[in-house]
Order: sequence, then structure tokens, then C-alpha cells
Amino acid sequence: MLAAFDMTSSLSRPAWRLAHLSDPHFTVPEWRHWREMLNKRVPGYLAWHRRRRHVHHRAILDALMQDISHQQPDHVALTGDLTQLGLAAECRQARHWLEQLAPESSVTMSVIPGNHDTYAPEPTAVPLSLWEPWMSDDPDSTRKAPDHPRLAGSRDNRAAFPWLRRRGRISLIGTSTALPTPWPMATGSLGSAQLERLAACLQHAGRRGDYRILLIHHVPCRGMIHWRKRLTDMAALQDVIRRYGVELVLHGHAHRPMQGWLETPTGHAPVIGAPSASLTPPKQAGYGLFDIAPHPRGWSTTVTYRTLSGHSGHWHFTTRGSARLPDVTAPITTAA
Ligand SMILES: [Fe+2]
Repeated sequence: MLAAFDMTSSLSRPAWRLAHLSDPHFTVPEWRHWREMLNKRVPGYLAWHRRRRHVHHRAILDALMQDISHQQPDHVALTGDLTQLGLAAECRQARHWLEQLAPESSVTMSVIPGNHDTYAPEPTAVPLSLWEPWMSDDPDSTRKAPDHPRLAGSRDNRAAFPWLRRRGRISLIGTSTALPTPWPMATGSLGSAQLERLAACLQHAGRRGDYRILLIHHVPCRGMIHWRKRLTDMAALQDVIRRYGVELVLHGHAHRPMQGWLETPTGHAPVIGAPSASLTPPKQAGYGLFDIAPHPRGWSTTVTYRTLSGHSGHWHFTTRGSARLPDVTAPITTAA
């Protein structure tokens, strides 16, 4: 049984601490009807059975979550690919896991979907809507737009994104690039409607002077991932960020650590990719801890990378490196 996150002593720390993990791929494919498998899921299942189930181990993810709990973050962000084939039964398994770690009422964890979570077409986004408590605006949010439907009623899950969660002067903005693609593609896109809503979110939070953290599954920087796995509307996203700005971008999808930069109105924002959270050696599972603190002229951010050590039955995580990201200078101004 996993313990829920312990956030008690984080209250005395001057910095706000975010843990970022991605691509745990921890569910076991189960289906109720053969119709669920009459699509890309057949080659996907074979790939999981032959290879992927040996690459990702639940025991490693459990050790990683335990380590995150010991670091006492104020919030945890998970950037997608909880499942293997996005089956309804897998979404239920993932919900059970989320409930154990971060009960709905505490809302200490935020999630966005990855391409594996929408592996094949579904009549509606009902399976994904099981994760809605961790994947929606704050319950008391005043940002209630009529064009922002709930997941369960959406044919395309991206209609319910981005969500916005505010913790003090930190705005977490969660996007969805998850949509079914033909085998063997693993591309994603935000879509023009979501990009418009994202621009409004960034502009609004930027005018308030918030530190804005954008969560996205696919890699938003050019030339860093195979074309088969690319974000197809990357240029449009980069235009939005160039115009309205962002302070930090966190992503997954590549299953390895990455760092890039995106141009903003005031300079460049760091773009940090987390490795998969459940990788077995010789690949290295890991996650990032971000300590974000206000100072008289803006914000400072320190990132600490924690990676897997030990051996089977004795997995643990240690600090591999730490770096101070360039300070953000306030006030943050954005284009009108
Ligand atoms: Fe993945």
C-alpha cells in the first residue's frame, strides 16, 4: 500500500517545491471486449508483452514515489503516459493509484495525459475523465468559460484543456497533446482552439506577475526527438510563448532527461524533460525537484535531479546533480 504524500513540514521552507515525474507506464493492459483491441492496440500490446513490460517496472516507480514523499514537495506534477494502451481498465488502475497517493480532497498532484493514454479512438473521453480530479482547474477557480467543457462530455479530450491551478503566485498550466495516431506514430498536437485558450491563460497569469509553469507531454523544442514522436504544432506553441511568455516548461515523452530553451518576450524560458519514472537499468529512472522562491527582483529556481540507485529489491533514489536556472526578473510583462 502506498502512503499518501507527506506535505506537513514543507510549510516552513521558504521556497515552493514542485516534484516533476513523467511516463511511468505502470498499468497492466486488460480489456473487457475484443472490440477494444481492434485497432493499433494489437501491435501495441505485442510490443508491451515482448519488450516494454521489461523496460518499465512498478517496483521502481514505487521507490520513486516514496522518495518524492520524503522530499516533501508542495505539489507533484505528472506529465502523462500513465498507461500502456489507454484501455478503460488501465485508466481505472491509474485512478486507484492516484487516489492512494493524492486523495481528491487534498489536490496535491496534477496530471496531464500522454499519447499512450489516448492510444486508440474512444467514443468519448470517459476513460480519461476518471483522472479529472487531478486534471482540471482548481475547484474554486473563477475561470469558468463556456467553451471549456468537462472531460466526460468531450469527444476530443483536448477541449477540456488547458487547466489552470494556482498556488500562491505560482500558476500551473496543464495542456493535452494526447490524441490517437496510426501505428507506429506517436505524434501529438495542442490544436488551434487549445492554443488560443493557452495564450489567454499565459497572458492573464503573466499580468498578475505569477510564475507560470507549463506542463506538456510532447517535447516542445525543435530537433530533440524523432519526427515520429514530434509535436506537430510546435511552431504555433513557440509563437504563443514568444508572445506571452512562460517561466518554466516541463515535459516527458522522450523517456530521458532533456533540457532546452524557448524564446519569451523577456529572454528564454528553461524547458526540462523528465526521464521515465519506472525505467529498469541500464536505463535510469528519475525525476526533478524544483525549488522556486521569490526574491526582491523576481524569482529564483533551483532544480535537483534524483535518479535510481541500488539493485532489485533495494531500489532507492539519490541526487545526481543540482543547478540554479536563470533568475526571472519581475515585473513580468507580456505583449498585449
Ligand atoms: Fe511514454
